[in-house]
Amino acid sequence: MKQRGEKIVSLTAYDASFASILDQAGVEMILVGDSLGMVVQGQSSTVPVTMDEMIYHSKCVARGISRSLLVVDMPFMSYSNAEQAALNAARLMQEGHAHMVKLEGGQKLVPLISHLVEQGVPVCGHLGLLPQSVNQLGGYRVQGKDQAQADIIMNDALALEKAGVSAIVIECVPAALAKQITAAVNIPIIGIGAGVDCDGQVLVCYDMLDITQGKRPKFSKNFIAETGSVSAAVKAYVNAVKDMSFPASEHSF
Ligand code: KIV
Repeated sequence: MKQRGEKIVSLTAYDASFASILDQAGVEMILVGDSLGMVVQGQSSTVPVTMDEMIYHSKCVARGISRSLLVVDMPFMSYSNAEQAALNAARLMQEGHAHMVKLEGGQKLVPLISHLVEQGVPVCGHLGLLPQSVNQLGGYRVQGKDQAQADIIMNDALALEKAGVSAIVIECVPAALAKQITAAVNIPIIGIGAGVDCDGQVLVCYDMLDITQGKRPKFSKNFIAETGSVSAAVKAYVNAVKDMSFPASEHSF
């Protein structure tokens, strides 16, 4: 799809009913995000989410999918070394039926990612804002605003591609930086708060359906307001990503 210039549509799901609606609406990549810790469990970050919880939700989502790629987050501290990462990735694939696992971080994860890929595990990277590191970052802020930070994220993307990841999610970075990274790598870059020039877009489905409590992030859009049903909202999102009307400049940094 990247080579054809066709935008890739992704949304999170945490259960079979939502997964089925997304799958039928043409969402190509369904992500069981550890954002479930916040939007399903009501926690203040993704840090408390466990492997058993990810497997439970992944199993539920897998039952609702017939076409989409199922990508599942490895939760905080489930990949602190290569051996642990391989055992936990295997659980997500064998028990949770994941097609691909996602983990957060740059160059320092290269040996671990190479190990997973060598073992036959498809891996998606995650750069920019890393929610599992919120306690080090001190909050949910746009990353890569100065040149030094931007260079680090670009080099991380190149290093992850070389390590064998199949795709990278880039979260909350300036649109210009995401555009440069998208052009610099051959693998798909899926943006969230990263502008319209990424190869695809992902949102937390509760955000775009206006279910999430509190303030909706700037990079998200309420798709249910103008459509009136969950399936129509998801279809409107799919169309908006495909025709590049979403994200608009007001959803970008
Ligand atoms: O956990 C999640 O839902 C994610 C998305 C924000 C990309 O990682």
